[in-house]
Amino acid sequence: MNQTEIRDIVDEYLEESAQLVPILQDIHRKYGYLPEETLHHVAERLHIPLSRVYSVATFYGAFSLKPRGRHLISLCMGTACHLQGAPRLLHALKDKFKLEDGETSPDERFTLKVVNCLGTCALAPVVVVDGTYFDGMNPDKLLKALRRFE
Ligand code: FES
Repeated sequence: MNQTEIRDIVDEYLEESAQLVPILQDIHRKYGYLPEETLHHVAERLHIPLSRVYSVATFYGAFSLKPRGRHLISLCMGTACHLQGAPRLLHALKDKFKLEDGETSPDERFTLKVVNCLGTCALAPVVVVDGTYFDGMNPDKLLKALRRFE
């Protein structure tokens, strides 16, 4: 076993993974999502397989491969929130804004992400909009809270 060769292999991956996430973050910040052609470009420039770029881009929930709405709604569907009525919140969002998990409303106002736990189970059901937590939600309270997000 040649330790230098092993180190070189490991270093290559360390360098690549250290670069790839910040690069994707910058692209995401600029465009609001990761357009497909930018992933090809990143793979080419970093000399790594496109599949690796895609695997990172799809692994992190913060990245989106589709254009996002002006506001991101994270709806918790974890056990506590589910038991406290989160499915009714999802239904209300579908009815009012035609939102499905991972989709953007036709007016590009909201993008919905269903998540498993937001870490505040005691306050279930919980919804986060652009980083602001709304707890103890019911459909009426949620729709009212969303009015401020134009
Ligand atoms: S299950 Fe919803 S915050 Fe934990």
